[in-house]
Amino acid sequence: MSIQSTHFFFIFFILQFLQLITTFCHCYTPIQKPVEYPCLPPHNSYPFCNTSLPFKTRAQSLISLLHLDEKIQQLSNNASAVPRLGIPPYEWWSESLHGISYNGPGVSFNGTIESATGFPQVIVTAAAFNRSLWSAVAAAVAVEAVAMRGAGQAGLTYWAPNINIFRDPRWGRGQETPGEDPMVTSDYSVAYVRAFQGQNRPVEDTYGRRRRVLSDDDGDRLMLSACCKHFTAYDLEKWGQFTRYNFNAIVTDRDMADTYQVPFKSCIQQGNASCLMCSYNAVNGIPACANHDLLQKARNEWNFKGYITSDCDAVATIYEDQKYTKTPEDAVAAALKAGTDITCGTYMSLHMMSAFKQDKVSEEDIDRALLNLFTVQLRLGLFDGELARNRFAETGPQDVCNSEHRKLALEAVQQGIVLLKNEKKLLPLDKHLVSSLAVIGPMANSTNLGGTYVGVPCNPISILEGLKEYVNTVYHAVGCQDVSCNWKADFAEAVSVAEKADYVIFVAGLDLSQETEDLDRNTLLLPGYQMELVLSVAAVCKKPLILVLTGGGPVDVSFAVGDPRVGGVIWIGYPGETGGTALSEIIFGQYNPGGRLPVTWYPESFTSVPMTDMNMRADPSRNYPGRTYRFYTGDQIYRFGYGLSYTSFTYKLLSAPRRLSLRGPTSKAARQRKHMLYQTGKDNLDYVYVDEVARYCGSLRFEVEISLTNNGDMGGDEVVLLFAKASKRIEGSPERELIGFERVHVKSGGSGQTRFKVDPCEQFSTVDVSGERILLIGDHILKSENIEHVVSIEMI
Ligand SMILES: *[C@@H]1O[C@H](CO)[C@@H](O)[C@H](O)[C@H]1NC(C)=O
Ligand SMILES: *[C@@H]1O[C@H](CO)[C@@H](O)[C@H](O)[C@H]1NC(C)=O
Ligand SMILES: *[C@@H]1O[C@H](CO)[C@@H](O)[C@H](O)[C@H]1NC(C)=O
Ligand SMILES: *[C@@H]1O[C@H](CO)[C@@H](O)[C@H](O)[C@H]1NC(C)=O
Ligand SMILES: *[C@@H]1O[C@H](CO)[C@@H](O)[C@H](O)[C@H]1NC(C)=O
Ligand SMILES: *[C@@H]1O[C@H](CO)[C@@H](O)[C@H](O)[C@H]1NC(C)=O
Repeated sequence: MSIQSTHFFFIFFILQFLQLITTFCHCYTPIQKPVEYPCLPPHNSYPFCNTSLPFKTRAQSLISLLHLDEKIQQLSNNASAVPRLGIPPYEWWSESLHGISYNGPGVSFNGTIESATGFPQVIVTAAAFNRSLWSAVAAAVAVEAVAMRGAGQAGLTYWAPNINIFRDPRWGRGQETPGEDPMVTSDYSVAYVRAFQGQNRPVEDTYGRRRRVLSDDDGDRLMLSACCKHFTAYDLEKWGQFTRYNFNAIVTDRDMADTYQVPFKSCIQQGNASCLMCSYNAVNGIPACANHDLLQKARNEWNFKGYITSDCDAVATIYEDQKYTKTPEDAVAAALKAGTDITCGTYMSLHMMSAFKQDKVSEEDIDRALLNLFTVQLRLGLFDGELARNRFAETGPQDVCNSEHRKLALEAVQQGIVLLKNEKKLLPLDKHLVSSLAVIGPMANSTNLGGTYVGVPCNPISILEGLKEYVNTVYHAVGCQDVSCNWKADFAEAVSVAEKADYVIFVAGLDLSQETEDLDRNTLLLPGYQMELVLSVAAVCKKPLILVLTGGGPVDVSFAVGDPRVGGVIWIGYPGETGGTALSEIIFGQYNPGGRLPVTWYPESFTSVPMTDMNMRADPSRNYPGRTYRFYTGDQIYRFGYGLSYTSFTYKLLSAPRRLSLRGPTSKAARQRKHMLYQTGKDNLDYVYVDEVARYCGSLRFEVEISLTNNGDMGGDEVVLLFAKASKRIEGSPERELIGFERVHVKSGGSGQTRFKVDPCEQFSTVDVSGERILLIGDHILKSENIEHVVSIEMI
């Protein structure tokens, strides 16, 4: 036993002892399941255990030692042990969307660690528009994952983040995403993956301080593995007879290029993600996990290095639901040959041998998948023997649910909550002037407001409990027994407590009975009789009512927007375990809200649009309104990026160029070519293909500097959103596009500054029908609040 492992076991026993004391009243000691590792004596002399060799050599060596049946048993999330080589089983499936979650069998809360910090659902954290927050949350979740790994309660490979574009407001899993904008989603994915995989740390730290051996591929080492999912054009659970299992998403090249693929490309290229998950749906007729072109594009064009897993049973669905193949063997063969390396589920381990016997797959096909799988495990240090076992020894139960993580969870909710209405400055309330509150609604006393993919939270606080910290007399009534609100039996009680109180806080909205995995909504209105209940209560309140909305998807609350009896509207999404505290702090002015909606809030009339229509762009010829702020121009309840503050800010443009010159090639031959690429289309618009002028793009880059003044008497955060649009529109180009965002804190009466780097070839360009980027010559307009500035691009 080495020094390190003695140390490890010493800590382990101390912790066990502490656990015994703390759980004294339960009179039980959790049973610690030791983590099993390969490459421990006497199985440590194989070349695949030799940390001086490159990962590829080690992986190939391991593959060469396996028999075909052993190889096939590796192609499942529950990968089998190979006892003769000392290799224990490995569970690939752990989940970490916004905290360690029990959705994956790799995670268990039955052990030394019985809970983990419940950060707000992703859509809430996204609403903060703060990249450092996103990184900090992912890094904290990773620390808890490492601690749980050390305790034998979690794996090394996690299937988050969910970076599909929140395309349709009815989508049950929109809550898991950073919203509808490709740039925001990209930036979120990069922040999450880099922090979670440990890439923001120096290499030394990534591997753990005990590392002794250096090798050439150290830069590829991973602390943990994150997964960009679900690849691609996935955002329908169940709508009419369509389910995610049988849906065929028809997507144009143009929408693919500037919407659906954007976050995946960033997640891979800038995030260096080590996993990609193919989705259930088909893309233009071919199930994603059997879609060779799609999967190989990620490897070849984006240089993806990692493993590709199918979503759970998304290889079975190729045959069973998509009916794309005639036999299960054809399905596993199609998936493997397309580039799917492993399936969540058992379909590959069940049918691969017979596919092999029928000559539908070769051993080389299987070896290629194994090379991707083992390489990731090697990068994670799994095969490093003693080193692997000790690598996480410094992180333990004390690093889970600690005060630092709890504070971060609170910051995430504070920063993400969006103030939507604040008539006559009703909010914030002054606690000295409020003697009683009525807190109404079926979710007001819930501690289960984490959304999908939750674990066991450390210490969840309900909204009711949060508000009780500020006011002595707090009345509570549910109003409805549950969120579906199909009965009015409890209305009278709600109305009577509302009559008694100085102020009424009504918690309405959605929970997972309305929107979740396998469940989309059919309406954007509040469920059941909720609206009626809000109005009955609003009719009797002494002061205008404060409406708090839960849920990840947009809600049509137009009834409240114009009604003076509803004075305040606050969206809290799924705030997680610290939501009750954050909301109360905002209501009583301890924190000034600055979150912005990361999705467009459409009116109920939008539900006439088929959810199955994947087109982003509007098509007036068939009354199709288009989707998201980039293309939709119809009525809205609240627009993308909307959100109020208790103070107000004045924007001033400090610097931005007026004219940019795009240099063309100088040689004679190239000049002739220049004329060819400087096209004049039928709209008489001049443009160049970005690919063709790529090497001149650098000279176009510029910076925009904006200053902000806080005009109020309360400090606050302002999210500065910078949009761009060309003054002349190519048919089908976005109405406007977000090209930068920064969250800035400004003291009351003070001022602050922010700067944006703009790369016109990237950010002023748009895509043509074939998905090629084109840049319009001429005027481009930058917009941010009251600022409007024209930048003109000319060819020289
Ligand atoms: C590990 O590989 C290195 C480099 O090939 C070699 O020099 C060394 O002998 C190997 N170690 C063992 C224990 O086989
Ligand atoms: C995982 O596979 C092993 C056999 O390798 C089996 O005993 C176990 O039940 C499986 N676990 C699950 C959750 O399927
Ligand atoms: C883990 O604990 C939960 C309740 O805390 C229990 O329902 C479940 O059966 C336990 N699972 C195992 C594998 O012991
Ligand atoms: C962004 O989030 C980090 C982490 O919570 C926080 O320290 C920072 O103040 C935030 N930025 C702004 C401008 O609020
Ligand atoms: C990301 O991947 C690129 C290309 O493989 C590599 O050069 C770079 O070092 C990686 N970055 C990190 C932080 O791992
Ligand atoms: C709120 O919920 C807690 C825990 O379920 C319960 O003990 C408490 O009585 C509830 N409070 C009210 C006012 O219903």
